[in-house]
Amino acid sequence: MKTNLTVNSARLWDSLMELAKIGATAKGGVCRLTLSDLDKKARDLFSGWCKAAGATITVDRMGNVFARRAGRDAARPPVMTGSHIDTQPTGGKFDGAYGVMAGLEVLRTLHETGIETEAPIEVAVWTNEEGARFAPAMMGSGVFAGIFKEDEIKAKTDREGVSLADALESIGYAGELPVGGRQVGAFFECHIEQGPILEAEGKTIGVVTGGQAQRWYEVNLTGQESHAGTTPMERRHDALLGAARVIDMVNHIGVTHMPAARATCGVIESLPQSRNTVPGRVFLTVEFRHPDEMELKDMDATFRAQAARIAGEIGLALDIKEIWHFPATPFHADCIAAVRAAAQARGYAHRDIISGAGHDALYMARVAPTAMIFVPCADGISHNEIESATADDLAAGCQVLLDAMIRRANAPG
Ligand code: GLV
Ligand code: MN
Ligand code: MN
Repeated sequence: MKTNLTVNSARLWDSLMELAKIGATAKGGVCRLTLSDLDKKARDLFSGWCKAAGATITVDRMGNVFARRAGRDAARPPVMTGSHIDTQPTGGKFDGAYGVMAGLEVLRTLHETGIETEAPIEVAVWTNEEGARFAPAMMGSGVFAGIFKEDEIKAKTDREGVSLADALESIGYAGELPVGGRQVGAFFECHIEQGPILEAEGKTIGVVTGGQAQRWYEVNLTGQESHAGTTPMERRHDALLGAARVIDMVNHIGVTHMPAARATCGVIESLPQSRNTVPGRVFLTVEFRHPDEMELKDMDATFRAQAARIAGEIGLALDIKEIWHFPATPFHADCIAAVRAAAQARGYAHRDIISGAGHDALYMARVAPTAMIFVPCADGISHNEIESATADDLAAGCQVLLDAMIRRANAPG
């Protein structure tokens, strides 16, 4: 399982730090929202680096970028890796970027040693993994895997009303290639864990066996705007008060399904934003996650019933749209075994782990044998500017990636 090739830890680190300059924040993080001008700069930088490492770049109609290194047998489907370079508004240097830079490091290591693989090797940059500007998340890989319809996804708008299609055009990444519909031999993705388990247990590699289920909702509460000074308390239909109760109720659902459940309200917009008008309209986002689909269903039912009760008590109209349901997804036994074997052969302490976060690999798992490689991050903190990981751990994950990809690319076809 061990190859005789070694990734260049310093080069991987330097690339991550260089990429992190695009959208760097004062607190040491990165704000590089999907399809922004900064995202374009990052894509251009990645493409240039890949070309210098002998790869060919293509872009599909979803703006997914593929850097391909030819194999001896052009007829074989590529062994692919990759992740995303968009970030959260207060994102870190590693979420997504690590998976892409690890793929680049694989290309560079193969290029400098002149090693040929049987199957081609590809590194993908998937459009809008984060779901921060356009919801839902994992759009590029989702369309590639045939889960989302391309035109429906392209019609999605951000909170400013800009469509995904227009955003793609405006940064020059509305490519011409059809999205997906081609064979991928296997998909591997490196990522920081984004949780505390590996660090707490002193493990270097997480052998990811699958990801948990998610449901995302958009909630609109409509009451009545009225004068803050003259409207008696019992006559109010305060949409923001309703939202406050919904937020508390959502958190309570998470708590009652502990330890595995996650429940979050991430966005709230209240109108008309005047101190002396009782708020009449609120937009709110809700998301639930759980590894067990039945538990998630139970959370969904409680949420709907309780939201209806709260709206009824305050006299609000309630509209709940479930905008995304992502099922619990297991990875492929062969790919999981390849990751585990590579970690074992290199002598890295490792353990099996389930992903709490969404990842492009979870959609790729629908169309190709797939697994992921996690490395620890400091205090398990992610989606935060202080997100941090060590060069040694990042290199270890990248080494496992290289070993697993080469093994797969050279396996009898
Ligand atoms: C992706 O960042 C997620 O929300 O899991
Ligand atoms: Mn990510
Ligand atoms: Mn993320």
